[in-house]
Amino acid sequence: METILVIFGGQSAEHDVSIITAINSIITPLILTKKYKVLPLYISKTGQWYCDKALSNIELFTSGKIDNFLIKSKPVSLKFNNGLEIELNRLHTKRLKVDLVFPAMHGTFGEDGDLMGLLEMSGVAYVGCGVSASAIAMNKVLAKQLALGCNIPVSKFLAFKTSDFKLKLTKVIKNINSRLKFPIFVKPAHLGSSIGISRVKNNDELKNALELAFYYDDLVIVEEEVANLIEVTLPIIGNDKLTPALLERPMLHQADFFDFETKYLKGGKKGAKTGSKGSQGYSEVPAKLEKSLYDAAQSLGLKVYQEFGLSGIARIDMLVDSKTNKVYFNEINPMPGSLYSHNFQKAGISNVLLVEKLLQLARERFKARSSVVTTFKTNYLKQF
Ligand SMILES: Nc1ncnc2c1ncn2[C@@H]1O[C@H](COP(=O)(O)OP(=O)(O)O)[C@@H](O)[C@H]1O
Ligand SMILES: [Mg+2]
Repeated sequence: METILVIFGGQSAEHDVSIITAINSIITPLILTKKYKVLPLYISKTGQWYCDKALSNIELFTSGKIDNFLIKSKPVSLKFNNGLEIELNRLHTKRLKVDLVFPAMHGTFGEDGDLMGLLEMSGVAYVGCGVSASAIAMNKVLAKQLALGCNIPVSKFLAFKTSDFKLKLTKVIKNINSRLKFPIFVKPAHLGSSIGISRVKNNDELKNALELAFYYDDLVIVEEEVANLIEVTLPIIGNDKLTPALLERPMLHQADFFDFETKYLKGGKKGAKTGSKGSQGYSEVPAKLEKSLYDAAQSLGLKVYQEFGLSGIARIDMLVDSKTNKVYFNEINPMPGSLYSHNFQKAGISNVLLVEKLLQLARERFKARSSVVTTFKTNYLKQF
């Protein structure tokens, strides 16, 4: 029986969202299959790692009992020994070899390539995108630069570093005014969930917006607004052969754009990220768009997935100007909340099928990567 380690929680703004993704959309269906030994590995907000069967119970988290549970528990140790081994907290004598890791983390340290680097180094197969694809996907500047290089349409943008803001603010503002048309969006490059993002209509609002974005990040993207906006998102699974789910359109219209609260607490478009609570009714799946527009968005999503070297699963967000029917790439979520399982279900892929397919894609990717030679025999040392 394969041992699957599901890693969730973590030190990111999306810690709580990750708990729901892990338990409801990954651990529960994996246990249902009765085919795997499923180990939940929870990373607390303070960065300790815990592994215990009890952590697969959602009630532990929703009731708040988790705090007390952690006080009584001991963090686990991981051992990197040409593969990953875990020494369970209560039974330190017992060491288990992990066959496959299913990262269920969103945001910093989890979705941005950091965790993937650790897993690559440890030599274990894992679900989802690799290090560089994850890192590029979670950096709004790098992602848009790569998109430009691949002829993928993006709205016109500029990028600035903290030093630009601190030392050359007048120049930055001048540059924005001469190169971009208001309204514009000012965004921290690495954050998600609309944290630190502003929609700016004029110069009076610009400085505050930059200040806010630089409070959260040392890299900021400033981009033109896509007018007559329809937002669509396309979840996709696959490595080389891709299977798109259905193009989805969030239906909740906000005057400006969505903030964290709207997305996660009031059941906004990304409410779907949290699974069922107040969310699904707000999305149109499949998006009711003219067929040619639907097809254009779907093929752009697939092109992004391929060009960015994504693997396993990802969700591609696009912005459509509904007057010109032009589709722009906006961003990639390499670990979509709750795996976007509601959408895959509508596309005929059950949650159990989805997680098993993702395990299979992880095995295939690991096998392919393991066959690449990374060492080289030389006489270099003989000269010393
Ligand atoms: N260029 C743009 N044109 C129009 N709306 C935008 C643009 N950029 C962002 N938005 C709006 O702001 C929201 C959040 O921006 P996004 O880039 O998706 O950041 P996040 O990573 O926080 O989700 C989008 O879902 C969209 O509603
Ligand atoms: Mg977004």
